[in-house]
Amino acid sequence: MTKPDVRILVLHGPNLNLLGTREPGVYGTTTLKGINQSLMALASEFSLELRILQTNSEGAMVDAIQGAMADCQGILINPAAYTHTSVAIRDAIAAVALPAVEVHLSNVHAREPFRSHSYIAPVAVGQICGFGAISYLLGLRALAERLGK
Ligand code: DQA
Repeated sequence: MTKPDVRILVLHGPNLNLLGTREPGVYGTTTLKGINQSLMALASEFSLELRILQTNSEGAMVDAIQGAMADCQGILINPAAYTHTSVAIRDAIAAVALPAVEVHLSNVHAREPFRSHSYIAPVAVGQICGFGAISYLLGLRALAERLGK
C-alpha cells in the first residue's frame, strides 16, 4: 500500500451524528460511524487520507473548510440542512477553491420543495443524492477521479 499523498476533508453537517436512529425511513439505518468506516476503507483503495469532521455548527463548518486550504486537496461535504440556507458555507467553498463534491443520503429533489434548492451546488463539482450511505462512496469516487487518483 502506497502512503497517501492526497488528503480529503469529509465534512458532515448538523444532525448527521444521529444517523442510525434519525428518521430511518428517510436516511436509512447506517450510523455515521458506519459511513465513516466505509469511506476509510474506500479511501485506502485510492491511497487517499481522510480528515473527517461532524459538527452541528455552521461556523465550525466554515472554519473546517478554511482550514482545508492549508493541507487538503478536496472536500466531500454533506452540508445537511445548511445546504438550503447557508451562503457562508457556499462562500467558504468558493474562497478555498478546492474541488468539492456535495452528497446527500436522501433524494433532496423528491422531498419538500425547500430541499431542492442548494446554495452549495453552484460551487461544487457536482451533487450526488438519493443513494443512502452509498451517496458518500460515490462522491468519494468522483472526487478521487477528479484528483487523478
Ligand atoms: C440531507 C438532506 C437535507 O435536506 C437534510 O436537512 C439533512 C440530510 C441528506 O443527507 O439527505 O439533514 O443532507
